[in-house]
Amino acid sequence: MEYTTLGGTGLEVSRLCLGCMSFGSSDWREWVLEEEESTEIIERAIDLGINFFDTANMYSKGESERILGEALEGHREESVVATKGYFRMREDDPNSGGLSRKAIEQELAASRERLGMDTVDLYQIHRWDDDTPIETTLRALDDAVRRGHVRYIGASSMWTYQFAESLYTSDRLGLERFATMQNHYNLVYREEEREMLPFCEKEDIGVLPWSPLARGYLTRPHEEIDATARGETEEYLYEHPYREGGGREINERVAELAAEKGVTMAQIALSWLLHKDWVDAPIIGTTSVDHLEQAVEALDISLSASDIAYLEEPYEPVTVSGHS
Ligand SMILES: NC(=O)c1ccc[n+]([C@@H]2O[C@H](COP(=O)([O-])OP(=O)(O)OC[C@H]3O[C@@H](n4cnc5c(N)ncnc54)[C@H](OP(=O)(O)O)[C@@H]3O)[C@@H](O)[C@H]2O)c1
Repeated sequence: MEYTTLGGTGLEVSRLCLGCMSFGSSDWREWVLEEEESTEIIERAIDLGINFFDTANMYSKGESERILGEALEGHREESVVATKGYFRMREDDPNSGGLSRKAIEQELAASRERLGMDTVDLYQIHRWDDDTPIETTLRALDDAVRRGHVRYIGASSMWTYQFAESLYTSDRLGLERFATMQNHYNLVYREEEREMLPFCEKEDIGVLPWSPLARGYLTRPHEEIDATARGETEEYLYEHPYREGGGREINERVAELAAEKGVTMAQIALSWLLHKDWVDAPIIGTTSVDHLEQAVEALDISLSASDIAYLEEPYEPVTVSGHS
């Protein structure tokens, strides 16, 4: 396994972060694994040297956090665990979502309980909250750090101006700064290259792309996208603009290069991301040990400048997706 320093945190994390959205309960999403199979994947990830795990309170309504916490029993100290809050956890309780002080304090306490951890290494806001001033959110997060409940704070998909406002608010008030950005970035969704990624580079922010394989779109020919349970049922796979702006041709070029190099499409798509200097660790999502192992093997694939240019050439701007 390769390790990298996460932005300006000083933390050493594996170059692949294991995403835990696929672990929890199939009651939440059809393609989500139950505990036993989830644990098998987490344990294999640990064997392979992965020390970085990303979950969220909303994944399987807390089950993902619980399963991750149990699976990391005995590996807690050497692991870097990230979770998130923002989305509403209980239909009938509007304060179980958002980024008010009440929501952050209550939902962070519930996450720590499910994870079985006194301290979360990285606590991320899952989205921007238009209804809470960022100063209120940052003060609540800063208090969580001072209390020892959280080591670092991070953010996820938002506009760059909002992220910039967060950082200068922290600096102005002497509060903890967001150290990471978890954003939507892959070969068929590159809108983040305009503002967010150069901004993160300049501010020494750790970058953790989500859906690095475009939710499976970059793992098989585009005509076969519905070949898996997730491909058949996940609405986001169809809502994101992966087929637009040259997306089909990029998918075909990924297949062509994979055949030429004798590797899988998923490995080419992941390798492209790993060649980007502004990326610290893509967050990979899988329900298969074999696919997890393929992701780790992708660390050894080398793409030439002309391979990268060939993969990128058909891209055209697409509708912003992942936040509004
Ligand atoms: N912050 C946010 O708003 C946000 C949003 C979405 C996701 N996330 C995070 O990012 C993580 C990853 O997201 P994602 O699941 O959408 O990621 P992804 O890596 O883009 O897509 C995963 C899909 O690719 C397939 N796949 C992976 N490797 C493959 C291979 N070698 N061959 C064929 N298919 C392969 C998986 O199928 P198999 O299951 O069969 O392997 C799965 O259907 C999540 O777990 C979560 O932690 C965050």
